[in-house]
Amino acid sequence: MSLHLSPVLAELEQYPFARLDDWRAEVRARGVDPIDFGMGDPREITPPFIREALLASVDEVSSYPRASGLPELRTAIAGWIDRRFGVTVDPATEVVPTLGSKEAIFSFAQVALGEKRAVAVPEPAYPVYERGALFGGGSVVAVPLRESTGWLPDLDAFDGWDEIAVFWVCYPNNPTGAIASPAFYEELAERSRAHGFLVCSDEAYSELWFDAAPVSALQVSDRTNVVVFNTLSKRSSMTGYRSGFVCAPQAICDALRSFRPTVGTAPQEFVQRASIAAWTDDAHVADVRALYARKRETILPALEAGGLRLAGSAATFYLWLDVGGPSEPFARRRPDALVREHRRVDRTRHDGRHVGDGRVGRADRRRCPPGRRRRDRRCPRAARRGAGDRGGRSVYRLPLRDRRGGSHRA
Ligand SMILES: Cc1ncc(COP(=O)(O)O)c(C=O)c1O
Repeated sequence: MSLHLSPVLAELEQYPFARLDDWRAEVRARGVDPIDFGMGDPREITPPFIREALLASVDEVSSYPRASGLPELRTAIAGWIDRRFGVTVDPATEVVPTLGSKEAIFSFAQVALGEKRAVAVPEPAYPVYERGALFGGGSVVAVPLRESTGWLPDLDAFDGWDEIAVFWVCYPNNPTGAIASPAFYEELAERSRAHGFLVCSDEAYSELWFDAAPVSALQVSDRTNVVVFNTLSKRSSMTGYRSGFVCAPQAICDALRSFRPTVGTAPQEFVQRASIAAWTDDAHVADVRALYARKRETILPALEAGGLRLAGSAATFYLWLDVGGPSEPFARRRPDALVREHRRVDRTRHDGRHVGDGRVGRADRRRCPPGRRRRDRRCPRAARRGAGDRGGRSVYRLPLRDRRGGSHRA
């Protein structure tokens, strides 16, 4: 029997980490004990008061959690948004608790794509924006991030404004560690209103900064088209709890409240109660920041002494380093250092390079959903024109982690 599964699945090629795993095995076979910067989880402890709040909330009877989330949690999230960003949001209508932010990011295209089906995704980027768009039946427009523009998309170079339904941004950025200015968000929000698309701002790293607290897209003067995703995973070292939120205008939250009960992605109530404790406290977050700063101070000088140049990383726990050339040969030459590729780690092109390599792509590189031909009128114009790459430098992302193992990419 032949199975006809999603064509998007067939398109997902080997995860490059598998290759890095082979290299690591080679190094180990030679008796080297590597410092592993590879994929994993934070090893920082979840603060005791959060764990205790969870334990105290496990009831004898277990019921289905509601997709709208506990009112107390929504109030705690709105309170944090107010304290942190000085923005007042209505907890009843503008906040939806999520099961971590990944699932909400992934499924957003299923809610947001109507007549317009193109999604603008930064390159390099967390792969979930693209995968969510493709599994949601959309097409992807790659928007390159370059050092010359501070790893921000060049909004003047982008020409697909009228075709897109969603424009994804992520600041502080995974993987470059760059941060965005209020003016950048303001301009993007203005364009979103002029051209009728949604700005989706993934702010998973908003609390991991070194010098100055990053701003949020929520701070723009008109939030009509702005959707923000945040999470406790990094802020409170709670990756295993799966707790985040979407904050958006009521119409978007209403759509999510209609969609999400079908998907069944409401966080468990004991997790929601632990999350109330986490969002209500800011002191532990300062401790987390100090810890990452110490790790950075420890490792960065060593890497710089090895000839690597810091090319970003104003925030987050990633170090974004210029290795002076293409990244994969560098990693291959330096296996003992176990430097991990920064690239968007999910797809390998036919020529063996990853899309998202430091060789940045053209602003008009677009992808059609698998199974849809480039001539198809539902594909954006530029996708029908074809794809292209420009030469450039490669950089590595080094997620900071301690020697017990684990890093920080879910
Ligand atoms: C940029 C970015 N966004 C979102 C997430 C998802 O985080 P979570 O689902 O744990 O909330 C991650 C996880 O590593 C991430 O790196």
